[in-house]
Amino acid sequence: MRRTPLVAGNWKMHRGGPDAAALARGLAEALGGRAPAGVEVAVLPPLSALGAVATALGGTGVLLGAQDCHEAPSGEFTGSVAAEMLAAWGCVLVLVGHSERRRREGDDDARVRRKLEAALRAGLRPLLCVGETLEEREAGRTRAVLERQVGAAAAGLPADAAARLEVAYEPVWAIGTGRTATPAQAAEGHAVVREALRGALGPAGERVRILYGGSVKPGNAAALLAAPGVDGALVGGASLEAAGFAEVVRRAAEAAEAARQAPAAR
Ligand code: PGA
Repeated sequence: MRRTPLVAGNWKMHRGGPDAAALARGLAEALGGRAPAGVEVAVLPPLSALGAVATALGGTGVLLGAQDCHEAPSGEFTGSVAAEMLAAWGCVLVLVGHSERRRREGDDDARVRRKLEAALRAGLRPLLCVGETLEEREAGRTRAVLERQVGAAAAGLPADAAARLEVAYEPVWAIGTGRTATPAQAAEGHAVVREALRGALGPAGERVRILYGGSVKPGNAAALLAAPGVDGALVGGASLEAAGFAEVVRRAAEAAEAARQAPAAR
């Protein structure tokens, strides 16, 4: 099945001040004023910069997203932001279960599920991150970890919710390390995630996009995006550089065009 690729830039805790609008404007310029046809583009800046980035990217077709949300719609949760608030702020996407939050901020499988449901309730598209650590990979547990993470987050979601779900396969050992999965390793991980999505959602699992994430940059994007089953990229460090991120977006548009012309090969 052919899926429109999505390239999302996760700025993490960078460019949250007056430098955010400049990066967003630089991206708009590097894209020639608009996200190219045939690919969806999103940026996920820190909360403090959402307003400025939304303004800077107005009319470009680049979507706005956030990096996390609270599971409750409101309440005594000092410092947290609800999915509904993100939606009201113009976000269309929100990451849930990024490995940095799973590892350091107490986002276990159950909490990730609650956040994912909160995002759906708010009308957002949750971008669920899954991936194995190096230790898990070396212990031969990659499949089990991915199946557990996908199952816990997605099992039994209704079909209309599944239609808004996005997934990113991000091997933890490849995040921010400069060490990238090979296209073959990415394809292997994506196949496991796809199978787990089918198990969790039935036929609706077929439509969910699976992005690859982990040290994606202009130099490796074409090979990773051409790997079987890769429907886009979640880009961290390289999304902080407008020209480089725009380059990854163009590689995704080219991969989509190549797949369109040779559908049987994918
Ligand atoms: P990276 O981050 O591209 O810097 O490895 C990816 C991510 O954490 O989403």
